Amino acid sequence: MEKTFAIVKPNAIKKSCIGKIIAMAEDAGLKVVAAKMHTLSTKEAAGFYAEHSARPFFASLTTFMTSGPVVLLVLEADNGVEKWRKLMGATDPAKAAPGTIRKLYGDSIEANSTHGSETLAAAQREIAFFFDK
Ligand code: CDP
Ligand code: MG
Repeated sequence: MEKTFAIVKPNAIKKSCIGKIIAMAEDAGLKVVAAKMHTLSTKEAAGFYAEHSARPFFASLTTFMTSGPVVLLVLEADNGVEKWRKLMGATDPAKAAPGTIRKLYGDSIEANSTHGSETLAAAQREIAFFFDK
């Protein structure tokens, strides 16, 4: 079993899609093993996305991620990291495959409804960023 880290982003919460997104995870066999609703501080958003700090979208991304509450999730499944990334679809909802979470609930490349760890190492780092052991 593999744990991954997910965020339901502010645009999805504004559209009342928390339940639909978590249901898609559960229906795909990803078990919710930790969850909390939280409004990120600018410091948390910037720290979480530090790898993107030099990118042109960074300031806008941190503003978006602090614009309302998010739901922080630890999901667990066989091959959980890849399973959740596939279920979310491509970063840009316009390019995401039909039936994926970002296609269904994404509003733009920035407000793309969900986050998912890219690697197992990233998942471990991201879980530790927001959750105690
Ligand atoms: O989230 P993912 O791993 O698919 O993409 P990323 O390249 O790691 O980018 C992190 C987040 O930055 C994305 O999920 C988008 O919210 C945002 N982003 C953006 O606003 N504009 C871009 N051109 C690329 C990413
Ligand atoms: Mg990423």
